[in-house]
Amino acid sequence: MPDTTTGFGFRRADFPQGFTFGAATSAYQIEGARFGGAGPSHWDTFAATPGNTVRAEDGRLACDHYHRWPADLDLVRDAGLDAYRFSISWARVMPEGRGTPNAEGLDFYDRLVDGMLARGLAPWATLYHWELPAALADLGGWRNRDVAGWFADYTALVMARLGDRIHATAPVNEPWCVAWLSHFLGHHAPGLRDIRAAARAMHHVLLAHGRAIEVMRGLGLGNLGAVMNFEYALPADESAESEHAARLYDGIYNRWFVGGVLERAYPEDVLEGLGPHMPDGWQDDMALIGQDLDWIGINYYTCKRLAANPESPWPGLREAPGPLPTTDMGWEICPDGLLHFLTRLKDLTSGRLPIVVTENGLAAATPLEDRERIAYLEAHLGAARQAIAEGVPLAGYFIWSLLDNYEWAFGYEKRFGLVHVDFETLERTPKASWHALRRAMEREPVTAQEAR
Ligand code: FCB
Repeated sequence: MPDTTTGFGFRRADFPQGFTFGAATSAYQIEGARFGGAGPSHWDTFAATPGNTVRAEDGRLACDHYHRWPADLDLVRDAGLDAYRFSISWARVMPEGRGTPNAEGLDFYDRLVDGMLARGLAPWATLYHWELPAALADLGGWRNRDVAGWFADYTALVMARLGDRIHATAPVNEPWCVAWLSHFLGHHAPGLRDIRAAARAMHHVLLAHGRAIEVMRGLGLGNLGAVMNFEYALPADESAESEHAARLYDGIYNRWFVGGVLERAYPEDVLEGLGPHMPDGWQDDMALIGQDLDWIGINYYTCKRLAANPESPWPGLREAPGPLPTTDMGWEICPDGLLHFLTRLKDLTSGRLPIVVTENGLAAATPLEDRERIAYLEAHLGAARQAIAEGVPLAGYFIWSLLDNYEWAFGYEKRFGLVHVDFETLERTPKASWHALRRAMEREPVTAQEAR
């Protein structure tokens, strides 16, 4: 039995009125890509290639959310949350990535969104959480400039159908992962390790973001944002080389994307390395990339310690272990980094844009008592409260994730869920963190005086 006596030290009432609490998931990680006429994506083929994912696991079945979504949405509502952040699979609604839509796929998301509304949950949609249709990967995927146009057409199709009921939308989840992690480090689909591919993806992913925002504004839709991931880059030691390494890592990971989206400019130190590999005429795209947004989403998990690696070509970086306790991902638990980025984004936007933590959470294999998750969330929500106290316009916080799910190259081993999933039976069991959250989310009874 879960230990349901452990609780959070905060309550909903400790946050400003109207603050949004939610849980986040993504399509490929939970739905079951083999159902409902979805086309193959580059994650299916990446996982089918030896050595890319743990035990060659893929998201063909995942949590079978495709069939079990009503019970899953009940779990979001019953935790007392206000909102649900989900993603739409491009390969499900357009199996070839372009051309004929899959009516079954669109109907699925139609029912899902109605299901959220019926439960009083605000739908927060992400249009791309990494499952590029394989047919588009054949054409060069994120390396091909045309991807921005394909993505714009897909955006138009989806939002013409769902846009009237979506509360908030972001085109792309975590452009750093789409571009750098997948085309330079090779850890995610399509598994490339090539600087030219990476430079093109770094630009095209933001161009696709810009085109999608343009399309959605054209449809009259509002509450549009960008969801970026941030890692707190710290020097591994006090040397000038390590300082420089941390600064460059911050440039590639953090400043490139906020630079493009918020300032219409890429950082000079990163352009020093990527410039020769960038697509011709990229400078002309910056106005489209940096269109006005209504909110900024920050996905935050950890910090990194950086040192120079003089043996290696640009960027010449090496990661070093740090002193803080780590999660099952080996990621240091560093809530200070969340406060750092919340403050930094506030300063960068002069406090004029609402900021939302769109993902935060940890992998912990502990069974249902789940103390590590409670402690991690408590610490990061503490940083969030401090940021609010310091004047950051923080409007919401989403926990990654509702369910244990397919953690990409790590397969099903890394458990990020508030709810345990038995991957043999697919049975869901709320963990102690879910129970604790439910208690913290309870609304204070309205006093007779307030009611008057
Ligand atoms: C984020 C991703 C999400 C999940 C978490 C752990 O980078 O958006 O899909 O993998 O990390």
